[in-house]
Amino acid sequence: MSKVSRRGFLSVLGALIPSFFMTKAEAVPTFSFSKNGDPKLGALLGESKRIKNGQTQIYSGQSGGQMIEVILTRTNKGLVALDGTCTHQGCTVGLDKAHKKIVCPCHHSVFDPSTGAVILGPNGTSKNSIGPLNKYTVTEKAGNMYIK
Ligand code: FES
Repeated sequence: MSKVSRRGFLSVLGALIPSFFMTKAEAVPTFSFSKNGDPKLGALLGESKRIKNGQTQIYSGQSGGQMIEVILTRTNKGLVALDGTCTHQGCTVGLDKAHKKIVCPCHHSVFDPSTGAVILGPNGTSKNSIGPLNKYTVTEKAGNMYIK
């Protein structure tokens, strides 16, 4: 496992932390796997027009009695839906909108919102030290977005 320099890690961290906490205060759209869904397509997230190309949005939802977080990004290839559970030790990640990155508050891993790939591992370790964020299947139909 290779290490990222301490200076590099701290500079990335310092740039990410302020905007990470600011985004937590924003209203988060909600959804539920047990309500308002489609048996084939999954949980209804809302209208497709809510996310423009290049935009990322966090959704908070109910799944099996638990709250989960899904991070949705519209790329040139379509929508990408990522599980908001960090693959290191399971903390809920957050969105740094200013830097267009997903950041874990527990050990500061950084992920790419358009793929879920690891950019920086926990506590400055290499991107190969943990796995990417898990993905949901996302479908758009009749102007709405669904995940399962
Ligand atoms: S739980 Fe996310 S970096 Fe450790």
